[in-house]
Amino acid sequence: MSNSPFKSYITTPLYYVNARPHLGHSYTTIMADVVKRHREQRGVKTLFLTGTDEHGEKIEQMAKAQNRDTRSFVDEVSQDFRATWEKMGIEFDIFYRTTDPKHVRAVQHALQTLKDREEIVFREYEGKYCVGCERFLTDSELNADGLCPDHLKKPEPRKEANYFFLMSRYQKPLIEYLEKNPNSVRPDHFRQEMLSFLKQPLGDLCISRPKQRLTWGIELPFDSNFVTYVWFDALLNYLVAMGWPEAGWNQELWQTVNHLIAKDILKAHAVYWPTMLMALGVSPARELQVSGYWLVDGTKMSKSLGNVIRPLEVEAQYGKDTLRFYLLREMSYGLDATFTLEGYINCINSQLANGIGNLVSRVYTIAKKNLGTVAFSNDELLEADHKVLALRARAREAWDAGFAELKYQNSLKAWSELVTACDLYVNEMKPWALAKDPNATQRLHVVMGVCLRMIQALAALIAPVLPHAAQEIGKALGLGERAFDPIEAGFEDRVRFELPTETPKLFMRVQMPAPESRSEA
Ligand code: MSP
Repeated sequence: MSNSPFKSYITTPLYYVNARPHLGHSYTTIMADVVKRHREQRGVKTLFLTGTDEHGEKIEQMAKAQNRDTRSFVDEVSQDFRATWEKMGIEFDIFYRTTDPKHVRAVQHALQTLKDREEIVFREYEGKYCVGCERFLTDSELNADGLCPDHLKKPEPRKEANYFFLMSRYQKPLIEYLEKNPNSVRPDHFRQEMLSFLKQPLGDLCISRPKQRLTWGIELPFDSNFVTYVWFDALLNYLVAMGWPEAGWNQELWQTVNHLIAKDILKAHAVYWPTMLMALGVSPARELQVSGYWLVDGTKMSKSLGNVIRPLEVEAQYGKDTLRFYLLREMSYGLDATFTLEGYINCINSQLANGIGNLVSRVYTIAKKNLGTVAFSNDELLEADHKVLALRARAREAWDAGFAELKYQNSLKAWSELVTACDLYVNEMKPWALAKDPNATQRLHVVMGVCLRMIQALAALIAPVLPHAAQEIGKALGLGERAFDPIEAGFEDRVRFELPTETPKLFMRVQMPAPESRSEA
């Protein structure tokens, strides 16, 4: 038994340092952060790993193109990722770098182990190589014009002798594993895609690059003329972070791991990775969660295509938390979604400024103007009060179901409906009229108390997605830091609320920028 406090483990891909953090990277990182916060509210302490993938040809090429020393170049870009996530309030526990000496040693250990077990052989190979993907592509993977479908470039023909991991040996066990574990790859259409890919014979995996071609990589422990291939190097990070291969590595936590990725790297995670683990005698990851792409102007956002949206710039312009909310609300997990500035601004205005922002400001303004403290007893609640309060439990169930099924949009919808229900309740109860009636003061206390209980539940549910707003609401409710950890704190039926001196200001309405300045977002 390990004495680690963590009960679950979640990872993002290690991002290549040939690009600066953009919206596509942010989505997966935000998702992992949201899931971690959601689990922790429910008592499951979660280790969250992110980091950077720093070896390989395209990184070496980029440093060269900029006339930079490779090491200082990767240090700088890696730091940019780290600082971006920190500024965005991403609560990662481990920032992993593949140039870390501990990682290098562990990768060499894995290579030597597989070589000793005769799982690695030396062979001549001829194929079509895409530098963007950092792998050989088969003809069936190319588009109708013979281009890599992701990078829209013609792969280069390459012939060279290399080391191969005998992945084909694991085709049968891999099929069995995918068939027996319905949650191994989610949503399920990606698992089906991999199972149909596995109907063709599975080749072996080329795991080395000759040093004439690439020096910026981890040297093979059994042949100093070669370095190892990026994927063999990078994937191992997830395991090395658990302490592998040292005795006493955290096998228990490993059993819980969820890898979050987008579909661009599905094959590496659903085929290469589990077979590597099987060969090393380690059980494959428990669950792979795969998202679609964020598209801009109809194509996948990527640096090489030049249609990049920078998360920090967007947040600075449109407000904290707003991007998190929009991304979760707009993307049906597993399918592609399109980022538009119009859609983002509409979402901020309708859901955040006019929705929760307006509700909180309305309730606090009336309550503060007319009551010092809100105090009432449960006996005073009328049927209409009970009715609206009962919606909280339903929303909580729907919220949790959405998370369990990876249908985050359903969770956010259930939450927005709870905001609307509270708004309707305010409209029906007309607290402004109660405030004018000297005989209705106690009823005003009750109505405001119901609204504050609703706001408390709304903040608790949305806290993983809108952590800053939840914190502001928590403060206004007189609760401390991390007010809604555990989630039950949002559903405690309080009968007294001290009102703060300041009305909490959550989200402002934003304007669509004039056309000439739009490209900046
Ligand atoms: N270095 C490898 C991963 C190694 S993991 C052991 C890599 N890096 S990457 O920088 O290209 O990151 C790819 C990942 O970034 C995607 O799987 C996804 O998580 C995120 N995204 C980058 N662009 C994206 C979109 N346009 N849309 C959605 N996610 C995207 O692959």
